Amino acid sequence: MYYNSIIETIGNTPLIKLNTLNEGIEGTILAKVEYFNPGNSVKDRIAIKMVEDAEKDGRLRPGGTIIEGTSGNTGMGLALAAIAKGYKCIFTLADKQSQEKIDILRAVGAEVVVCPTNVSPEDPRSYYSVAKKYNESIPNSFYPNQYDNLSNQAAHYETTGPEVWEQTEGKITHFAAGVGTGGTISGVSKYLKEQNAEVFTLGIDTYGSVFKKYKETGEFDEKEVFPYLTEGIGEDILPENVAFDMIDEFIKVTDKDAAIMARRLSREEGMFVGWSCGSAMHGALRWARKNLKKDDMMVVLLPDHGTRYLGKIYNDSWMKDHGYLEKREFATAQDILLNRNGSNELVTIPASTPVGDAIKILSERGISQIPVTENEEFVGSLTDSKLLHKLIEEPELRGEPVSKLMDKPFQFVSSRDTLDVLSSLIDKENKALMVRDQLNQVHIITQSDLLMAMSS
Ligand SMILES: Cc1ncc(COP(=O)(O)O)c(C=O)c1O
Repeated sequence: MYYNSIIETIGNTPLIKLNTLNEGIEGTILAKVEYFNPGNSVKDRIAIKMVEDAEKDGRLRPGGTIIEGTSGNTGMGLALAAIAKGYKCIFTLADKQSQEKIDILRAVGAEVVVCPTNVSPEDPRSYYSVAKKYNESIPNSFYPNQYDNLSNQAAHYETTGPEVWEQTEGKITHFAAGVGTGGTISGVSKYLKEQNAEVFTLGIDTYGSVFKKYKETGEFDEKEVFPYLTEGIGEDILPENVAFDMIDEFIKVTDKDAAIMARRLSREEGMFVGWSCGSAMHGALRWARKNLKKDDMMVVLLPDHGTRYLGKIYNDSWMKDHGYLEKREFATAQDILLNRNGSNELVTIPASTPVGDAIKILSERGISQIPVTENEEFVGSLTDSKLLHKLIEEPELRGEPVSKLMDKPFQFVSSRDTLDVLSSLIDKENKALMVRDQLNQVHIITQSDLLMAMSS
């Protein structure tokens, strides 16, 4: 079996159960993973539908040119449709967009016109105005306008909605998706609610966007609008494709929570997804934790792939600069002592002990290193591997006191030092560390203690 062209591979993306991030939530959470589309995003679905609807009613004729002001996913989808159907593509985008995005669109044959970012949309140099100008001046050109073109919503009503319904065998009870143009949630919800009016739909919005307040009060509040970073969701306009009556509730998610959740989806579920996927999943899980019941089944749509965000949320320096990096909680030396099974008693050896006796003590106690004391002071240390080496070289040392061949004492650390600090101090030369507890008792921390703490 083979496909006749790349566009035939659009859709029929997999539905995958969460196995880790859903911990503590009743019911089933399933991810509809849209990066399996050939352009790595959900937008392939609307691109082909907008193009084919335009062909049907003559807005686009053979040899025509597709023109859109786009920075990414929709451009990729349109470029694939154009390749399969023999159209030219011109995309205008703002110069704040990353070079990678421009390169990706050029890689699939599109002409990219880079316009200045810091001008108003009405300015003739803006990427909106330039796209409009090209559309007016180039004959047989088509301007899809994903915001207000209802083919967008229809694509999801015809493909995504039925797929979700069939993949869940009609058992879906909740659907959640981010809202940008609104095409995804409106089209999918319309289809699902027609099959079962009880299906609940949750729209994910960002801080800095008008949707949630508009749904709840009917007011378009410009005070809600401020700049934010998450790409693809939230708006400062009301696109035609947002069918508010199809969305039961909106929930807002911060840029930071979205970034951290996207990274967790990659690391803990193996789903290497984009930033707005983190928004959708964070909002959905927060809502589900409070409201989902045992027999419920929630589908969360994840729009795109992580590669486009390698320079942002998947770059630790970028995350740190934005104050987003997750704090990893490291255990301290004190935690290691508290979690230790068995005796915490420190075994030491006097400096006058003959080497032969010291070897016996190490083997009887089943330990590999030991502090050496003199007059209740720590004056040195012994490790079994070093003892062995020295005895092979000079067997007559067996009867000598350990003070003759001991190493320097083990280093003392604070009980508040964390695992990352402790492990940087243990190496080939320094096999163990010493720590004093609140009762002034001294304990030894070895490499195997650190390994145990790291793996627990
Ligand atoms: C990355 C990303 N996430 C989410 C969305 C939101 O989907 P929709 O436009 O169908 O509401 C978009 C669309 O712009 C997107 O590009």
